[in-house]
Amino acid sequence: MNNYERKNNSPKNFAIGIDIGTMNGRVSVFRDGKVEIIPHGTDLRAIPCCVAFTDTNEHIGNDAKKLAETNPENVIFNVKRFIGREFHETSVQNDIKRVPFHVKDDKNGRPQIQVAVNGKMKGYYPEKLSSMVFDQMKKRAGTHLNCSVKDAVITVPAYFTDFQRQATKNAATSAGLNVLRIINEPTAAAIAYGLDIKDKRTILFFDLGAGAFDASIITCDNGTIEVKATVGDSHYGSEDFDNRIVNHFVNEFENTHEKDLASNPRALSRLRVAAELAKHTLSSETVADVNIESLFEDTDFNTSLSRDQFELICADLFQKPKKQLRALLVDAEMKSADIDEIVTIGCGSLPKIDDLIKEVFTGISINKPINHEELVVCGAAIQAAVLSGVEVDGFKKVSDILNFTLGVKSPGSRFIRLIERKTRIPVQVAMKFHPEVDYQPFLTITVLEEHGVPQKVLGDINYALIPQTPRVVPRVEVIFEVDADGVLVVSLRDVITRVLTSVSTRFKDHSVIEEEGQAAEPVQ
Ligand SMILES: Nc1ncnc2c1ncn2[C@@H]1O[C@H](COP(=O)(O)OP(=O)(O)O)[C@@H](O)[C@H]1O
Ligand SMILES: [Mg+2]
Repeated sequence: MNNYERKNNSPKNFAIGIDIGTMNGRVSVFRDGKVEIIPHGTDLRAIPCCVAFTDTNEHIGNDAKKLAETNPENVIFNVKRFIGREFHETSVQNDIKRVPFHVKDDKNGRPQIQVAVNGKMKGYYPEKLSSMVFDQMKKRAGTHLNCSVKDAVITVPAYFTDFQRQATKNAATSAGLNVLRIINEPTAAAIAYGLDIKDKRTILFFDLGAGAFDASIITCDNGTIEVKATVGDSHYGSEDFDNRIVNHFVNEFENTHEKDLASNPRALSRLRVAAELAKHTLSSETVADVNIESLFEDTDFNTSLSRDQFELICADLFQKPKKQLRALLVDAEMKSADIDEIVTIGCGSLPKIDDLIKEVFTGISINKPINHEELVVCGAAIQAAVLSGVEVDGFKKVSDILNFTLGVKSPGSRFIRLIERKTRIPVQVAMKFHPEVDYQPFLTITVLEEHGVPQKVLGDINYALIPQTPRVVPRVEVIFEVDADGVLVVSLRDVITRVLTSVSTRFKDHSVIEEEGQAAEPVQ
């Protein structure tokens, strides 16, 4: 009898773990005392996080990815780079230039992806597209487990902001999932990796995903996983390396064949696939061959990329995490010698990344687990099992931290910090506010999250003061609660009436419904 059945008589509601990646997603379940990866189709252990639209159908995963060669404008990928972000953000503007599909401002500052269906342009919010992938994952899990699946633990980059977390959660919920917990990707990796560690070890998890970079120092102590510090960059990912390779190939093709394929989405889409493959090859080989038949105007592209060339064209990118790794040690209040080992995930397995890590962490061994790409989802499945009441041998507790300071704007427009980054979550903090002038009818509170200056506005709260009171009287208590998902919940308690009101910040109520569009504009 497995652990699950011991606790629950009906094996009808397995909780699953989901790693929704920028490129690939994975689903897993803890069953019969071990983690199982749920396959997608025949033996595929990952699902491309890709959605495609034709006039008659919607395609998700591998079917969608296959259409990229013939219909690149209607094949949507990289949704994780748009979700929970605002249209004007630099990273969104940069990504828009690189993707073959169209993205516009929905007039409320949110990016909306444009797709031509039956001669009409239709706008899809990133949440809706993610929710379609979640839905597919949920169905596959249900078929594999032969039961209906609802409960899930979902992973996000540790450096995901409040909006990005909320938007991801909304996407999952609208796919009919019950989100048991949102956990940080390096933390999930530590849960899976640390399960068999019997002594206390301090480990650096270095995860360079396609769209985001996270590095966390985590202690694994006999089943207790404790995050000490995290750094990250959600504008930096291994796709930046792929883009450099694509540009290199475009230039090479132009030099050799005197043909410019830069404006041909189909050729670029095929080059992108080849570039990612070459990057993978170069983590274990010194040369990667590239052969693409009829890439552009019936011309084949046959070339190779050496590891030296690759490292040269990406030299500045390889240097990027160095500063953050140093900051990570400072944040954790540790020296390099305090780290017992380093585990690399995703693109972190490239040899040049090892060199970079060794510059900061001299003499510490670097491990690249064979299943590094699956560590995150395995941790999610373990956490899902635990949260649904299953005893997992060796697992005791996970303790994570908040990665961005939260606060409010003072009447003088100063940033008042209410919860500092690095604070252990869940956490609750309260502060009392006075009216700014006597008998003021409203109190306005601007909620801020700090990832640079100026701080990002999460929402404005306008609270009607009934009855109105002099300014010396403390009037409203603002309560900030960061839950175990790292999501902020704000509530207000009226000091006079004692009424408690819970407020949602802006992205929480965002719909995931697509918007019917106008007649199709010509697709360039
Ligand atoms: N062996 C490898 N060598 C180089 N890069 C790899 C290797 N394995 C995976 N990667 C890269 O790791 C990244 C994993 O990204 P993914 O998990 O989809 O995104 P994210 O974690 O940012 O959401 C991809 O860019 C992939 O090309
Ligand atoms: Mg990943």
